[in-house]
Amino acid sequence: MSTQHHNPVRVLADYYSTTADAYEQMWASALNPAAVRLLGRLPLGSARRVLDLGAGTGTLLPALRRAAPSALIVAGDRAHGMLWRSPALAPRVVLDAARLPFATAAFDVVVMSFMLFHVPDPTGALRKVRRVLRVGGRMGLTTWGRDRVVPALEIWNEQLDRYGAPPAPAMVAQHDLMDTAEKVRALLAAAGFAEPQVDFIPWSHRPTPDEFIRRHVALGATGRRLVGLSTDAQSAFVREVRSRLEQLPPNAFEDRSEVIGATAIAD
Ligand SMILES: C[S@@+](CC[C@H](N)C(=O)[O-])C[C@H]1O[C@@H](n2cnc3c(N)ncnc32)[C@H](O)[C@@H]1O
Repeated sequence: MSTQHHNPVRVLADYYSTTADAYEQMWASALNPAAVRLLGRLPLGSARRVLDLGAGTGTLLPALRRAAPSALIVAGDRAHGMLWRSPALAPRVVLDAARLPFATAAFDVVVMSFMLFHVPDPTGALRKVRRVLRVGGRMGLTTWGRDRVVPALEIWNEQLDRYGAPPAPAMVAQHDLMDTAEKVRALLAAAGFAEPQVDFIPWSHRPTPDEFIRRHVALGATGRRLVGLSTDAQSAFVREVRSRLEQLPPNAFEDRSEVIGATAIAD
């Protein structure tokens, strides 16, 4: 087996590149309102150079362009399959947050929307972000706080267990290092950031049953478990879970997981 299969950053990037189409269609727009709210906390109107780190399919770029009309905006992501889908509003750079290929003090603002939990060493990556910010420049991030129960997802996972679906292959997902405001503050302090402002950003997402099913087939741990079943078992699973989910009320599909928004200054 080649060593690239043991490189967790590469494994994650390959996963995102492979599922980029589904991510763009089924998840990016659900996350976007939280990231757009974060932009309101950042000094973008006067910014000249902005980095969208972990930009994914570039869903945030139109709002960033509006908020920072005179800035050079750079979209960076480790997964080329995500990045090439982003709108041509910004130069795109395939990069690893652990090794930012930019000069010291190159940016006024760095935004990280729902990406820091995917980095093996979040404090190290935040230090790299601090290095590429000018003194007085500002970092902003969103990440997941505590999960809330989504009844439809409970049923989905229970049905996967019933079918004997194997566990999802491991990927870097360190939500537990940053799922409270206190933990995020501690990470920012460890990376040397000043004046951390950390609180919750209102967010919720209520897909239709069909949207819910399509997303959980294609993406995330649910999708990665499902592909562990035979093709026939996958079809039977989807038929059965659909008939169970169709009996639920609309609010059983609603996700009200906490979103944490944080900003801090490089000094
Ligand atoms: C959940 S997606 C969020 C994408 C986008 N910011 C959004 O809000 O839609 C996480 C993104 O982080 C990227 N990512 C994960 N680890 C990374 C790393 N070490 N360096 C750069 N990007 C990374 C992934 O490729 C993916 O595009």
